[in-house]
Amino acid sequence: MSELAILGGPKARTEPYPHWPVWDERDLQAVMDVVRSGRWGGFPYPGPKTAELAKKFAEMQGGGYAVPMTNGTITMEVALRAAGIGWGDEVIVPAYTFQATASAPMGAGAIPIIVDVDPNTYCLDPKAAEKAITAKTKAIIPVHLGHQMADMDAILALAEKYNLIVIEDCAHAHGAKWRGRGAGTLGHFGSFSLQSSKTLTSGEGGILLCRSAEHAALAASIIDCGRPHALGGGPEDPNGLSMQGGNFRLSELQAALALIGVERFPEQARQREEMAAYMDESLSEVKGVRVLKRDERHTTRSFYRYIFAIDPQEFGLEHDALCDALEAEGVDCWVGYEAMHNYELFQPQRSKLAVPNAFPEYFNFKDMHLPEATRACEHEAVWLDEAIFRAGPQGVDDAVAAIKKIQRNAAELKK
Ligand SMILES: Cc1ncc(COP(=O)(O)O)c(C=O)c1O
Repeated sequence: MSELAILGGPKARTEPYPHWPVWDERDLQAVMDVVRSGRWGGFPYPGPKTAELAKKFAEMQGGGYAVPMTNGTITMEVALRAAGIGWGDEVIVPAYTFQATASAPMGAGAIPIIVDVDPNTYCLDPKAAEKAITAKTKAIIPVHLGHQMADMDAILALAEKYNLIVIEDCAHAHGAKWRGRGAGTLGHFGSFSLQSSKTLTSGEGGILLCRSAEHAALAASIIDCGRPHALGGGPEDPNGLSMQGGNFRLSELQAALALIGVERFPEQARQREEMAAYMDESLSEVKGVRVLKRDERHTTRSFYRYIFAIDPQEFGLEHDALCDALEAEGVDCWVGYEAMHNYELFQPQRSKLAVPNAFPEYFNFKDMHLPEATRACEHEAVWLDEAIFRAGPQGVDDAVAAIKKIQRNAAELKK
């Protein structure tokens, strides 16, 4: 019989990894309290739970003015609009990310300019970004991907040199720190998602951290139907309209759940960080596996997903074959996103942008060479579920044993 579960052998991990999100009596109580209070929605903005979440979240990340809203996509669109970025402007985004990072600029009317990533971190490559800067470039959106952080020193230097707004996409980076400073507090804005897979969740939701009180007040107006908002306070005039906006308010029910998540977060983060260090060490012994380099300026890591790379030649398989085999072993994993330039949305001839065949000068993929993102997305990246870390050292041992077993039997699987 084969050693591999995918070929009928025994599984490396028989017990399921822990479920996410976690909850207990505190979550039930928090929701019941909101239900009983009769104050369920987000109007007038911010509600008491939302205001408390804003305060506690800014404290947790270590600064800024937090504006909670409906999700971690609108956060980026609102940031761009609050900074006055829109029609005809260009916004630099990395090729390796969730579609939201590029669709948010489009939502604001700007053009996402897709650039390659650094193979050591899989995050935006500042050198590629600099080459893409034109007179129309107004902002840059680095994504802190999986468990990595983009090189914020280089990105902030670029922003300074070319007068760009920096919006950190921190959908994966709750609690992460760069030189001891919280992700999302380094740029002008930090965008966080509270969607159900995220390490701080309220089912759906988002928080925009703003460096300036002016930007925070504008963001609050945009998500509250354009009502004017005072700096750091509630609406000045609930019937007034200061700008065009929409209803993107977080509900009090969601804010209550996120507040319990904030309470739980430090212990979860500590456990993930400890187990991830063990994972780095254990995986570095596996043939054909490359543990992503840890930048020493990335002082606290957070783990939405743990990403590693394989060398398909040396490992003996491509990443999709490894992932299928790992799933069969009982270890949840994923090959990660498509390279941004492979999404149909950005193909000029099949464009789903509002204007058919729009912007061929920007989205001409014949001329677009993004070798690092392509290699990561098509051949080498493997994303492990953070649930592995919540299962303690045994969780890591089982995952690593499964990867080693697959590598040992790669030739059999390839046949
Ligand atoms: C990198 C990244 N940015 C933005 C988002 C968007 O967050 P939301 O789903 O809350 O809109 C996600 C969500 O998965 C993400 O992974």
